[in-house]
Amino acid sequence: MNHSDPHKLIDERREEIFADYAELLRIPSISALSAHDADTQRAARFVSEMLRHQGLEHIEVIQTDGAPLVYADWMRAPGKPILLIYAHYDVQPIDPAREWTTPPFEPTVQGDVVYGRGVTDDKNNLTGTIHAVGALLAARGTLPLNIRFLLEGEEESGGEAIEHFVRTQPERIASDIVMVADGGMYPNQPTLCYGCRGILYTEIVVQGPQRDLHSGGFGGVAPNPIFALAEILTQLKDSQGHILIPGLYALMSPISVSERALWQTIDRDFDSEYRAQIGTEVLTGETEYGVIERNWARPTLEVHGIIGGFQDEGSKTVIPASARAKVSLRLVPGQTPENVLPLLRARVAAVTPAGIKATVEPIHGGLPFYTDVTSPAFTTTMAALSEEFGKPAWAVRSGGSIPISAIFQEMLGADVFCIGFGQSSDGAHSPNEHTSVSMFHRGVHALARVIDALGAMPAV
Ligand code: BES
Repeated sequence: MNHSDPHKLIDERREEIFADYAELLRIPSISALSAHDADTQRAARFVSEMLRHQGLEHIEVIQTDGAPLVYADWMRAPGKPILLIYAHYDVQPIDPAREWTTPPFEPTVQGDVVYGRGVTDDKNNLTGTIHAVGALLAARGTLPLNIRFLLEGEEESGGEAIEHFVRTQPERIASDIVMVADGGMYPNQPTLCYGCRGILYTEIVVQGPQRDLHSGGFGGVAPNPIFALAEILTQLKDSQGHILIPGLYALMSPISVSERALWQTIDRDFDSEYRAQIGTEVLTGETEYGVIERNWARPTLEVHGIIGGFQDEGSKTVIPASARAKVSLRLVPGQTPENVLPLLRARVAAVTPAGIKATVEPIHGGLPFYTDVTSPAFTTTMAALSEEFGKPAWAVRSGGSIPISAIFQEMLGADVFCIGFGQSSDGAHSPNEHTSVSMFHRGVHALARVIDALGAMPAV
């Protein structure tokens, strides 16, 4: 099948590509839950087989302290740049399980929509990149540049295996350009991402009495850790969305005039779009900043879950001994998990009520990522995306985090960008995660086009 049109081949292979995607979606590779460790292993093996079938070489499932990494390459284009492609094969937990209307690990197609955990984050982009490379290779017998894949299985749980690998063995993935195939686009609007927020994920543990107490026998004299936790949380952020952690905002690098000018060129009613996607009349947060600035370029603080006291049916009159909350901050350039954690700890200590002990335990962290939108790799990819979609792509930041992006940048000195074909309305991390089947397929075409365009760039 040499010297045929790769795009024709992608169309001919539509069902075959979808079958690989569906097979991967059936593996419940939830990295946060150790009960699924065998599934992350199975997913890694399945992905390595997919790479082999698509003509990649030197395939390796690399065992780590956590979920395995999967490596593969095709390095037969001497003198041409090396493109490193990253994606992740793990997914978020399905919680709350009751809210799913289709089985989360049985991909279910209804019209142009496929439902299932991981359909948009990130098994679409992972399968899409492998098949884009496979189609280029099968159509032409060669690739326009050298390609390495490094795929991980613990992105969704803040795992450190990939960071350890990239920091200790950067020569194994030496590259000129890094395509982080994760994140997404706005509905019907191709985007290329030049910045992601970082993250500091913690648990605040609050202790009061030495054991659970009778709330009648001790009510009125014993400190209640759930109230204490509520007091602490409400003193971390005010009702206008300002984070009340002294020193936090002072760490931020200023936003450049040229970046603000870039935002001005984006013509979209984000206010109503976010309201519709959230299902709310009003948006919250720091209303003195626009919606995209709040979501992309301001630090935020969220509470993800609270545990404490009596949770069962019926009633129990108790003053609990302890309570805990999962709290994270999204970070922007200038802020790191290391420079923010002491500020958070100091604030929690300052607002902890008498009779209560509170600690802040870090769970995981990731650096913010920010890259130059004028680099040849970025502008070339923007042009290829615009061509595929027949309209100008937008350079965007994202509110989400892809922690390895900044590490690739630091360790490889490569141009890094994030690209993905799930849409922001797909419900990533939510019950009934879904995506458009035709957009998934479109993504494969777009990725093949991007790889061709990057291959046509002069060697760097
Ligand atoms: N794909 C997301 C990150 C993302 C979301 C990028 C939206 C761009 C737009 C990624 O898989 C993810 O969810 N990452 C986690 C990382 C965290 C657990 C360290 C996140 O952002 O919560």
